[in-house]
Order: sequence, then structure tokens, then C-alpha cells
Amino acid sequence: MGHQAQHGTDDTEELLAAHRQLWCHALGYVKSMALKCALDLRIPDTLDRCGGSATLGELLAASEIPASNHDYLRRVMRTLTAMRIFAVSHDPAKADDAAAISYQLTPASRLLVSSSSSSSVDDAAGAAAAGASKENTTTPSILPNIAHLVRPNTISLLFSMGEWMKDESAASVSLYETVHRQGMWACVEDDAANRASFYESMDADTRLVMQAVVRRCPHVFDGIKSLVDVGGGRGTAAAAIVAAFPHIQRCTVMDLPHVVAEAPAGTAGLSFHGGDMFEHIPSADALMLKWILHDWDEDKCIKIMERCKEAIGGKEAGGKVIIIDTVLGSRADDDDDKTCRETYVLDLHILSFVNGAEREEHEWRRIFLAAGFRDYKITHTRGIPSIIEMQIIFGAGQATGKYAMASNEPLGTISDVTEGAGASEEPCPVGTTASGSAGASPSHSGDVAGSSYGSYAKKRRLSDEELGIMTGLTGAVNKLAEAVQAPVVVQTTDVHPDLYQICMSIPGFTDEELMTCLTYLLDNKRQGDGFVKMEPKHRVLWLRQHLAKI
Ligand SMILES: C[S@@+](CC[C@H](N)C(=O)[O-])C[C@H]1O[C@@H](n2cnc3c(N)ncnc32)[C@H](O)[C@@H]1O
Repeated sequence: MGHQAQHGTDDTEELLAAHRQLWCHALGYVKSMALKCALDLRIPDTLDRCGGSATLGELLAASEIPASNHDYLRRVMRTLTAMRIFAVSHDPAKADDAAAISYQLTPASRLLVSSSSSSSVDDAAGAAAAGASKENTTTPSILPNIAHLVRPNTISLLFSMGEWMKDESAASVSLYETVHRQGMWACVEDDAANRASFYESMDADTRLVMQAVVRRCPHVFDGIKSLVDVGGGRGTAAAAIVAAFPHIQRCTVMDLPHVVAEAPAGTAGLSFHGGDMFEHIPSADALMLKWILHDWDEDKCIKIMERCKEAIGGKEAGGKVIIIDTVLGSRADDDDDKTCRETYVLDLHILSFVNGAEREEHEWRRIFLAAGFRDYKITHTRGIPSIIEMQIIFGAGQATGKYAMASNEPLGTISDVTEGAGASEEPCPVGTTASGSAGASPSHSGDVAGSSYGSYAKKRRLSDEELGIMTGLTGAVNKLAEAVQAPVVVQTTDVHPDLYQICMSIPGFTDEELMTCLTYLLDNKRQGDGFVKMEPKHRVLWLRQHLAKI
């Protein structure tokens, strides 16, 4: 029997779908280039100038494309509307008149309007102020950021990825360095044009992300009096924070000396500190690391987190680390699997640039545990970054049991820090300044050592000798706490032991379909548990609905 005869119609359809899938992925770069073409032709600006909507004829005129080529632009716009970068409408009465096709900005292309008046730090602050009342604010432009991503020397790297991977030195010599003969950071340092382009791109992204952070998660900054933005570049994120949260009295931007040397002068409330985060991070109530850890491999991330622990370790009411970075595979409630999977490309992008990594939650957890942090809380967003908060109490890496992984509770605030303690430049030795907050903050309630020592510290200062003993004890208690708490962290991700069997044996679906659903359920423990508990007919309904969504 011939091969063809063994396949029914369904298999043929599957083959054709696989064929289409491969073509679309192999030509995925065409999408990037269509986007670049629209930027080169300044289509978003033209649409903006025309009030958000323009005909093909208007776009042709503004782009100075000769009439003979009008169909090329129509075809580029067709691909981009399919990508939902633009929207399209066509008056049926003018169906034969291509020039009458009308295009509109979408939420995506609105971010690409260069003339947006919102590209300033003040807008992020304004957004924060508006956050409570949910007022509309202007949209920041990320045009420099997106333009940076579609540059030839960004894209060309990826041609050599396979070859580079075969090289044993790949762990220490990035793909970027292999191709451009100089690492990305060195290129940024040595070449002023490159540096300007890099920071313009970063700053544009940062304005947007910080606007979202201060609007959506203001509680993250509650009670903080001093903050260091580690690797804070030219201070764009820090400026948004001080403008939005006046209770932060001291805000320091720490970055490499040559970066802070070029930071714009005169942002009220900001100071700059040139240094190396692998060596020392200045002390503060809170440290922020935005788009920092994804630039480094796991060992380097652990080193940075250890420096962070030292920098907040002396904060008797519990210093805090705020990480704004990607958590792969995470999603906000209304995101689907497809949206979630699309972000995996970010990992290969950062790998190609700096040998960095975008991480799944378990990879983050490994870093935190290795650096001596215990619990953390992740707030997922519908965007690329998530916000990870970690708080240590008692000075040596022990946090709370209450705010374990993926909890929806906010971490406790540190608002009750004794006046003046938060403003000190160097870490306070453990227990030398009293804090009344340890037992009161919700995040401290599970912390045996922190609360009892906190009340002891209120009574008197410790002698050096006592401090030495207590610090040693703290280490021992922390080790014990780590040993006790470690299994809890692991358990929270356990999937139901019967999930695989239950899911894969449901009749009426192909193995591929069931596997797609199983993958989702394994990644989403709560959903997986719920699925196991459903009646069989409801499981079938759930599978159908899930498959229809992706
Ligand atoms: C991807 S950028 C992020 C900048 C900023 N946090 C933001 O989100 O806009 C990474 C930053 O880390 C800084 N950096 C790299 N190595 C560093 C080091 N050893 N110490 C301090 N900063 C460093 C870079 O100069 C750069 O500004």
C-alpha cells in the first residue's frame, strides 16, 4: 500500500498545516522587515499627523513614493495589518480604488509615533499621579527601541548562531563578540554613536515600562526612603520614581563610571554613583534592578544578588530588592498560551547580544536561593517585564514564609523604619538601631528570628562582642531556616501525579492536541489541579475551549 493511501483527509490537512507553519516561521524575518519598512517610511508619524487615520493615497504622498509603486506600499500595509500593527478599513463604495483604502493606528503603532509628546520622564511621574484616579495619560514612544532591534548589526548576528554554538569558548565569548570582534558592552563604551543609540533605545523602553510600573504597582515603593537603581543607566527610571514617589528622599543611580559621567545633570532628587555592581552596591532601603540580571549568566547573577544582599542586609526593618525583568512562561490572567510562548524569542535575542538569558520562574528561584534569599513575590504583567520583590529581614538573607512564590499578597512595607536609619549611607550593623516594624509588617509575621530580635533591639544597643555573637547566630538561624523552608519552595510547583494520565487518555482529541493542553496544565499548577477535579464531560469542554483560544 502506498504511503499516501495510509493517510486520511485529516492527515493531509495536518501535513498542509505543518507546511504552512514552516513557511511562516522560515519567513518570520519578513515581519521584522515589514515593520522596519514602515518605520523607514515614517508611516506611524503620518497616520498620527492625519489624526490617527489616513488613506493609502495620503501615505504615498507623505512617503514620497511614486504612484507607479503604490501597490508595493499597499502590500506592505496588508502584511502589517495582518500583524495588527495597523488597522484597515475600506469604503465598499470605493472597492476598486486602492488609494481610498484607509489605515489606522493601533495600540502597537501608537507606540511608534516619534512625535509623541509624552516621551519625557515627567510623563511617567504624571502617570503615577494619575494612577490612583485612572486618568488617561499620553503614550510614550518606543520608536528608538524598536528601531534599534531591527538594525542590520542586530539581525545579522543570528546568522552565525549555529556555528558559534559549536565553539567551546562560546560561554565566555558571546555571539556578538564573535561576529563584531568586540563585546556588546565594549562597543557601547568605545563608540559614542553606538552608546547614544543604545541608551536612547533603553531610555525609550524605560519610560514606557516605568510608566506602567508606577501606575500599576505603586505599592512596591511604599515606605521606601532611600533607593539605589543598580545599573540605572542615565537615570531615566530613577527620575520617574522620584517624581512619582516624593517619600523617597534619597535616590541614587549606580552604573559604570563612564555611563554616569554622561548622565544628564540636574534631575531633582537624583544622585549618581560610578562603580561596579560586582564589587559593591551602595546601601539603601531598596535596590532596583531593571533589565540587569537578564544580561548575565547564572553565576554572575548570583554574585550581583549577593552584593544586593550586603547592601540591604543592614536594614533592620528589612531591605528590599525590586527586580524588573522577564519571567518566561509567565502570563497575566487574560493572556493565552500563544502570547506567552511568543516571548521565548527574547531569550535568544539576549543570548546573542551578551550571553544573557531570559529565565523561567524556576531559573530565577535557583539564583535567589543560591544568593541566600528565601521568598519572593512575582507580579506578572501583560507586557514583557514582571516585577519580582524580595525582602530580607534580620540582615542576612532570611525573608518571610508568608509571601512565598507566586503569592498574590503584596510584600510587607518597610514604612516603619526608624527615622534617619534609611538615610544612612553605609549598612547599619544588625540590630544597632531599633525598628518597631518587624512584628507589625504583614511580611514579617512568619519571621521568628526577625520579630523576636527586633523587640530585643529596641531595648538597647549591643556591644561589639554581642554583635559578633548575634551575627554568628543569625547565620546559623538562617541556615536552619533555609533547610526548613527549602522543601516548601519545591512543593509549590508540584503537579498532580495523575494529570498526565487523565489528560492524555481523553478520547476525541489527537495526541498533539492533548499534549498542547497538557503542557499548559503542567505549567499552570492551579489550572492543572482544577482540571483533575473536573467531571469528565467538563474536562472535554475545557480542552475544546482551550484549543479554540490558541
Ligand atoms: C540593559 S541596561 C539597563 C539600564 C537601566 N536599568 C534601564 O532599564 O534603563 C544595563 C545597564 O547595566 C550597566 N552595567 C553593566 N555592567 C555594570 C557593572 N559592572 N556595574 C554597574 N552597572 C553595570 C550598563 O552600563 C547598563 O546601563
